[in-house]
Amino acid sequence: MIRHLYTSLMATLLAGAIALPLAAEEPDVGRREYLNACAICHGESGNGEGALADLLTVAVPGLTAITAQNGGTFPMLDIIHIIDGRTGLRGHGSEMPVWGAMFRNSIPEEAGLYSSELIVRGRVLAIAEYLRSIQED
Ligand code: HEC
Repeated sequence: MIRHLYTSLMATLLAGAIALPLAAEEPDVGRREYLNACAICHGESGNGEGALADLLTVAVPGLTAITAQNGGTFPMLDIIHIIDGRTGLRGHGSEMPVWGAMFRNSIPEEAGLYSSELIVRGRVLAIAEYLRSIQED
């Protein structure tokens, strides 16, 4: 009995130790990136009414109804590609910046190609996760 309790306590503690930092930090990272890179056009709350929106020739979409507009599923891969922009999906010819290239250019050469690609993908993923977290029903 005691042994069983001990085992489940350890399992709970371990799960907490692993899950907590991920759960606690990821949305923050994504939110920070969003506020830095996206809010100027898409608005702080994602309503599409950022300060730059009026100056663009294209309407800036809100980003909180993506799931609703997609039949109740958040289209994670499409969103990653749209943000990254290097895959061509809504990249060139759009007024939306190609973030994959911008993030890539901000990393010093010394980081190496492989590490910088991981950093770029991590940033794009964090933002996409954040967008998923602000979806309205
Ligand atoms: C300079 C203004 C600007 C900035 C900054 C910007 N966007 Fe956009 N974004 C747009 C415009 C304009 C569109 C829609 C038209 C288009 O596709 O070009 C768009 C479209 C999108 C879409 C597709 C939405 C849909 O419903 O089809 C997503 C997702 C998106 N942006 C995410 C982001 C994220 C995440 C960031 C920050 C990393 C960001 N945008 C930064 C202007 C911007």
